[in-house]
Amino acid sequence: MSDTRQINLHVFRHNPLDPASVPHLQTYQVEEAPGMTLFLALSELRERQDPSLAFDFVCRAGICGSCGMIVNGRPRLACRTLTQELPGDITLLPLPAFGLIADLSVDTGTWMRAMTERLQAWLHPADPTLDLSRIEQRMEPQLADEIYELDRCIECGCCVAACGTAQMRKDFVGAVGMNKIARFGLDPRDARSDADFYELIGGDEGVFGCMTLLACHDVCPKELPLQTQIAYLRRRMARAGA
Ligand code: SF4
Ligand code: F3S
Ligand code: FES
Repeated sequence: MSDTRQINLHVFRHNPLDPASVPHLQTYQVEEAPGMTLFLALSELRERQDPSLAFDFVCRAGICGSCGMIVNGRPRLACRTLTQELPGDITLLPLPAFGLIADLSVDTGTWMRAMTERLQAWLHPADPTLDLSRIEQRMEPQLADEIYELDRCIECGCCVAACGTAQMRKDFVGAVGMNKIARFGLDPRDARSDADFYELIGGDEGVFGCMTLLACHDVCPKELPLQTQIAYLRRRMARAGA
């Protein structure tokens, strides 16, 4: 018996810059190979069948965060998803909440930049003239580990795509934004107080707009502890705003 099977990829196609383009699903057949990822299936498809297909990738290793897409209804990284884990019919859609570039390619960068600037998601040392690349400070290994854990976010956008609140509110910072504030809130080198963080995230566009749907936690490909961080941040901001 053959180990390989034909998989049917039903792929969203649309070019928003082409007035004649009508959004639709296009079906392709690809022969599955052992260990094949969705990224490899799409690459083969683009090389052998349809060079016009648009999708994003850089690292192929779950690091750059550029290959997020909706796979049979769930946000995932194409480069970290084995086709063997999926049924023979696979529907691929672009991540919602982000601007569509074409087909499966979306502009997460503009969204992430706007969120980062809005939340000032960078280190704010007490002395702003310090050279940030040279700040070294002793800290407990456990605290360093906790900060590192949250720093593993690759800004893939899967948590935003999975979040009902983010689909309804364009100004919602999403789990990715709340994770950033939680991260800087832990960092002893950051001079901001809880009152400062409350100004940034203590409204409906932040922790109090989150409806605890927790899809973010379920889909994060880096398995960040988003549920714990959001609950912790909410308690902290409730105290800061009281
Ligand atoms: Fe992606 Fe997880 Fe970061 Fe959200 S928190 S952007 S799902 S890595
Ligand atoms: Fe959305 Fe996650 Fe909150 S899915 S509503 S950010 S718990
Ligand atoms: Fe970089 Fe998938 S290609 S995360």
